[in-house]
Amino acid sequence: MRFLKKHCMKEIRKMRNVTALTDGWRFGKRRDEMTDCVTLPHTWNALDGQDGGNDYYRGTCWYARELSGAETAGERLFLEVNGAAMTAEVYLNGKKLTRHEGGYSCFRVELTQALEQNNLLEISVSNEDNTSVYPQKADFTFYGGLYRGVNLISVPAEHFELLKDGTPGIKVTPVVHLETMRATVTVETWHNAPSVDITVNGETKRVERCAQFEIDHVHLWDGVDDPYLYTAVAKLPSGDEVSTRFGCRVFHCNPEKGFFLNGRSYPLRGVSRHQDLKGKGNALSYEDHAADMAIIRELGANTLRLAHYQHAQAFYDLCDENGIVVWAEIPYITMHMQNGRQNTLNQMRELITQCYNHPCIAVWGLSNEITAASPVNEDLLENHRLLHELCHQMDPTRLTTMADVFMLEIDSPILEIPDINSYNLYFGWYLGELEQTDEFFDEYHAKYPNRVIGFSEYGADANPAYHSSHPEKGDYSEEYQALYHEHMLRMIEQRPYLWATHVWNLFDFAADGRDEGGKHGENQKGLVTFDRSLRKDAFYLYKAAWNKKAPFVHLCGKRYTNRCEAETEIKVYSNTDEVTLYVDGTKLATQKGRTVFTFQIPLLGEHLIRAEGEGCSDTMVIRRVSEPDESYIFNKAAASVTNWFDADEIDQSCFSINDTLGEIRAHPQAGAIVDAMMAKGASERGDVADAVKDNPALQRMMGRMTMLSLLKQGGADEESIKQLNRILQGIKK
Ligand code: GCU
Repeated sequence: MRFLKKHCMKEIRKMRNVTALTDGWRFGKRRDEMTDCVTLPHTWNALDGQDGGNDYYRGTCWYARELSGAETAGERLFLEVNGAAMTAEVYLNGKKLTRHEGGYSCFRVELTQALEQNNLLEISVSNEDNTSVYPQKADFTFYGGLYRGVNLISVPAEHFELLKDGTPGIKVTPVVHLETMRATVTVETWHNAPSVDITVNGETKRVERCAQFEIDHVHLWDGVDDPYLYTAVAKLPSGDEVSTRFGCRVFHCNPEKGFFLNGRSYPLRGVSRHQDLKGKGNALSYEDHAADMAIIRELGANTLRLAHYQHAQAFYDLCDENGIVVWAEIPYITMHMQNGRQNTLNQMRELITQCYNHPCIAVWGLSNEITAASPVNEDLLENHRLLHELCHQMDPTRLTTMADVFMLEIDSPILEIPDINSYNLYFGWYLGELEQTDEFFDEYHAKYPNRVIGFSEYGADANPAYHSSHPEKGDYSEEYQALYHEHMLRMIEQRPYLWATHVWNLFDFAADGRDEGGKHGENQKGLVTFDRSLRKDAFYLYKAAWNKKAPFVHLCGKRYTNRCEAETEIKVYSNTDEVTLYVDGTKLATQKGRTVFTFQIPLLGEHLIRAEGEGCSDTMVIRRVSEPDESYIFNKAAASVTNWFDADEIDQSCFSINDTLGEIRAHPQAGAIVDAMMAKGASERGDVADAVKDNPALQRMMGRMTMLSLLKQGGADEESIKQLNRILQGIKK
């Protein structure tokens, strides 16, 4: 036995040992007062970051933990922090070892030299506002904390690189030759040993650092249909080992035909996702991530925009495994900061270093709506050029893109920097009418037929408690959100040149500064609620359009039970091509069609409604009531404005609030009155009125909006709307 142990011990190479530091953490707002005990992953804003008021704690907090002898064993010891939002400093036995600025990437630091007999590890984390670390201004909660977990990594003296930009130590570049179905796979490694053994697809090569492999009859990573993954393994003589999965695919974008994967047209149709959950903040478990991916697969999306920052490795892994094409991005968002350039470059370098091997990622997003609160000046342009160049220098295999705010002039020079572009458009929600989305893309594509364009954000808030038979923009009803997305789905299907489209958002998410739609602290544009408990009707519209796997029918309006009308619309979303509707067990009608099926039925009392498709059905109960159910109405004031005001009270020979701003402005007297009122309103709100005046696109857009919609959009009260209408009715057209 002794012989065996002696010789075997020599043979057993000292493998890497990773210890998750989950328990035993003390936590507090002061270094000398850490009274709470927490486990990782952790955020201190799990609750106050999601309850509205824009008052969640933004400051510096401390985490502390002793390290046991067993945990610090090994020749070289490193600490790995997978996410510390937003800025962190690491101390061992009181000595500051490192500082990291950026809340969404992994960073590591070596502990070896600072180890003593007993070891106290302290990490300070800050999410307070500053002028150099992105994000600082955006529509989501900037949770603070060690929210993705912390590990100790012990390695032999000869080991793979751990420090530089949080590298995995191995980089795999597959180049696919579709015509021969061969792949040339280059594997690069970083380490301090004399040689490395690299294994790919059953073949091992001993090299200094890099090796190239040829794979015949390559099994492609082919999106959601067949996301095949290979594995590359690298081993050092010391026993240290790293591995990574990779996928062999090739993609390109065509300005007229959109996105191509492995040589075939593959329109990217999907959603965006933030990384937070009701009650947990952004401190998610693997199971939380996996549950989200299951919902994405049910929806039938084939792409995800992982906004607005680097997401957990576990989630990119899930996208690799499920064949979801990903738009990855850094949080260079909303407002450009003169002192933030280096931070954008650091965050992009870490994103690419840490995520390069994921076959799911197709594009690197440079920024999001960065001109919303900043002028397009040379500093901002140069920041984008440097990011674009960094992306191409680090990764010539992928494209750069950016998400542009709707007011950004389509001839802005910034649009010429990334390889491809996408716009965030909210016509029909924040402003204007749904059709303006169609007009925008048609205008852009006509003016720039050689540019690749996409639709990076669009959405409408909906609270599943609110319902209407006359849904309209701003009522937060589930019915309006469904109508909004029906329009957008048609618009998208008619424009195959859109390389990618991403619904904003798959899930409601936390924006503590919001207080609207009957919820505090939530953006409710999700197709699914923040706690994932409820899929809104619009979810099933996209499922009907995209998920061809299992037949289903979905009756819309299940939560719209009490209906104050003699006849009501029954809408069905389905991925089958024929739907039959039954009312109280009697067949009403059968319709052939696609995705959306609508029926009109008389409402006499309480009714059992049943929809049937081939091999699937759905039921609900609705009833006629004599008075509108007030609980379904969000903004009673706005609803009353729409109710009191209808066409027959208007003298059509005169101006009224039903006319568009453009029509009214065309008349000197009426135009002067409206301009004076809007300038007064803008100065009261502190708007930068010039930003509107100086923006012809915005002007054109507003010109097409009716005064009533502009006034309601601006939150005008009923009396001031009535007053303006009386004035305008005194002016002959
Ligand atoms: C913007 C922004 C999002 C935001 C969205 C909204 O486009 O990019 O971060 O949540 O609008 O207002 O819902």
